[in-house]
Amino acid sequence: MRDEKAKILENTLIAADTYRMVLQGELVQDLKAGQFVNLLVPGFTLRRPISVSSFDKSTGEFTLLYKVLGEGTAKMAEMKLGETIQTIGPLGNGFPIETAESVLLIGGGAGTGPLVQLAKELKEAGCKKIRVVLGFPTKADIYGLDEFNELGIRTHVSTDDGTYGFHGNTVELIQAEGLSAELVYTCGPKRMMQAVEELFDRGYISLDIRMACGMGACMGCVCRDKADPDKYYRVCKEGPVFRIGQVEY
Ligand SMILES: Cc1cc2nc3c(=O)[nH]c(=O)nc-3n(C[C@H](O)[C@H](O)[C@H](O)COP(=O)(O)OP(=O)(O)OC[C@H]3O[C@@H](n4cnc5c(N)ncnc54)[C@H](O)[C@@H]3O)c2cc1C
Ligand code: FES
Repeated sequence: MRDEKAKILENTLIAADTYRMVLQGELVQDLKAGQFVNLLVPGFTLRRPISVSSFDKSTGEFTLLYKVLGEGTAKMAEMKLGETIQTIGPLGNGFPIETAESVLLIGGGAGTGPLVQLAKELKEAGCKKIRVVLGFPTKADIYGLDEFNELGIRTHVSTDDGTYGFHGNTVELIQAEGLSAELVYTCGPKRMMQAVEELFDRGYISLDIRMACGMGACMGCVCRDKADPDKYYRVCKEGPVFRIGQVEY
């Protein structure tokens, strides 16, 4: 884990209130798919956790896809090329890369980002049938399609209002199109991941819950083991990735 000034190489609006920020820093050398960084946005004391969407160790570049929600992410959106941002990372455990005949990656809104590097690594690991399902409120919110297209991976999209793709949510899309898979990975809103857990037995969820320190020191992000009520996990340290059925959230 490093604490360094990462240089901003790109900070572009890619969908409604959603930006792609490309950074350059040494921490990329230790990154794994599904890990996150904690950003010290100028003017704020609490850091903001954002997943790394993809990275390239040869150039030292890593990409964040983030949605403007409050003051911290709004300030991030104003940052210019060439500026630096104090960044701690890599943090969290990341996605285990497993192999299977068929794999489904299911992302909801801001949960899309971390699935990009995951898809790349699953492909490199030899998974042949990888499909991606993404859900957004409306057409203007959609992003990530180019990233998966570049990897040659088919993406199914749902929108809550039917302005693009399937009219409904990701789980309804999976059921309507009869999409099955041996292995699933999901990241997005809590209710979506809970519904995915009811449909599939093998796979992983990535939790997005409020964090303070982001590195295991404050116990501000704990969740409980499903089987053992006396066992707790720090989402920022033992997570954010957990096995399907492992934790209550
Ligand atoms: C492991 C992890 C990975 C994430 N990855 C992404 C990503 O790839 N793209 C993306 O758009 N968003 C991601 N988020 C959510 C992102 O951290 C919040 O949207 C962001 O911190 C909001 O900050 P704000 O100042 O704009 O909002 P405010 O609501 O003003 O934030 C106030 C405080 O709450 C904290 N906070 C608010 N919402 C969250 C949240 N959901 N999770 C954790 N802390 C929060 C902030 O750190 C800050 O201290 C991730 C969250 C976690 C925990
Ligand atoms: S946020 Fe402090 S322990 Fe997880």
